[in-house]
Amino acid sequence: MQMKSGIERMDDRELYSFDCSSKEQKNITVPRVGKIRRTVLWNTKIFQAYRWYRSLRILLKKDILPPDWGHFTCLLEKAIRCAYQVDKAYLCLYDPKIYIDNIHSYYSFTLMNRGASKNAHTCFMHLNDAKGEPERVFYFPIHSHNRNFGAFIIPVNIMNRVNRFVAGERRAILKLFSLAVIHFEQRLQRDHSRVLQQICEVRKSVAQDIHDDLAQRLFYLAVQSYHLKNMINSRCAPDKAVTELLEKIDKQINGCHGEVRRLIQELHSPIEGNSRIESLETLLGRIMEGSRIHTEFSVQGQFKDDDYSVYKAIYRIVEEASYNVVKHARAKNLKVQIERTTVQWEVHIVDDGVGMEEDSICNPGKGYGLRGIRERVLALKGSLTIRSQIGEGTEIVVIFPRRSKETYEYDPDSLG
Ligand SMILES: Nc1ncnc2c1ncn2[C@@H]1O[C@H](COP(=O)(O)OP(=O)(O)OP(=O)(O)O)[C@@H](O)[C@H]1O
Ligand SMILES: [Mg+2]
Repeated sequence: MQMKSGIERMDDRELYSFDCSSKEQKNITVPRVGKIRRTVLWNTKIFQAYRWYRSLRILLKKDILPPDWGHFTCLLEKAIRCAYQVDKAYLCLYDPKIYIDNIHSYYSFTLMNRGASKNAHTCFMHLNDAKGEPERVFYFPIHSHNRNFGAFIIPVNIMNRVNRFVAGERRAILKLFSLAVIHFEQRLQRDHSRVLQQICEVRKSVAQDIHDDLAQRLFYLAVQSYHLKNMINSRCAPDKAVTELLEKIDKQINGCHGEVRRLIQELHSPIEGNSRIESLETLLGRIMEGSRIHTEFSVQGQFKDDDYSVYKAIYRIVEEASYNVVKHARAKNLKVQIERTTVQWEVHIVDDGVGMEEDSICNPGKGYGLRGIRERVLALKGSLTIRSQIGEGTEIVVIFPRRSKETYEYDPDSLG
């Protein structure tokens, strides 16, 4: 069997439909650096794992990538399970941004607590599994530039023969897989900073357009409405209704102008980190200004760059729900709580106002606010609960699943 032709024919389907069902062993000619050919007796499963690595490398070069760590980890663990003929294998990474699910984060934390991030040698370890049962695992560090990036963990049960882990070819395959992890990380980082840069440029140009056109026109309108008010007041004694109407128009224009300026400021600000939490706080402060509603705001966890769409949705939901409290609830207190866990985002907006009837919860009538909230939640596959009773206030609970968790449940077999 010629490796070269095999590799050339590979495409992304082959990567996703990785199959190691055959038990036979074959003499395979493996191309080596410097065009020296070597024939080795390779177990077919190891050969398949090698092909998996090669096809992944080719796809990385061609820019056809598994879209994120969830997909990549699924594929990689499947390849390891096949090569080692075991039920379980985990890729555990030490970067909290990349935690895939609870089991992976459990192993990552346990390894870090054991100081494994400094251990650059393969070994067998005694750990407790996620259920607390003692287990023995094979530990293979992913090591690059004097830094442990993570490790492969393969639980070893009685059925597994130890030599399966010591065999040179299989170790070589793990080495290749760890290279694949490092290449994938480098590619994601490069793509990520490129995308961030593009997003920043687009945001700046949108901000500039809004500033040069919409903001200027609103400013012009604000000045004109101010003059109109003065003119009417100086020339005649307008009746109360006209003055009130003018006052309202003036207030709305100034409000719009303020909102547009805030939007410009937000578009100019960085899209990561704490500044988002601060802008949520500022938003609440602005909405509640002059309302005499006592407001509590708390956030647990950080908005990371991968949560931008969730952040946008949460921002708009908090904005609408708080405006509703000011407009309709006649409340004394408002509590906004946001919590980010490993699996989800949870938002609670609670007031102690007049409450709403069940009918207006399900059927919000002419308003667009609650409808908008529902649509935002649906778009991100979240859940929305509105609890309210007349005289007992209103509680809005929104839950968004974290994206990485959702994609991990995706099954690459279905692509085959
Ligand atoms: N926190 C609340 N307390 C009491 N009633 C509420 C509350 N939130 C919403 N409501 C009721 O639900 C109705 C629908 O709200 P929704 O936000 O959809 O519309 P709106 O605020 O009237 O208009 P819009 O948001 O389009 O400007 C409101 O008219 C109000 O009667
Ligand atoms: Mg509303």
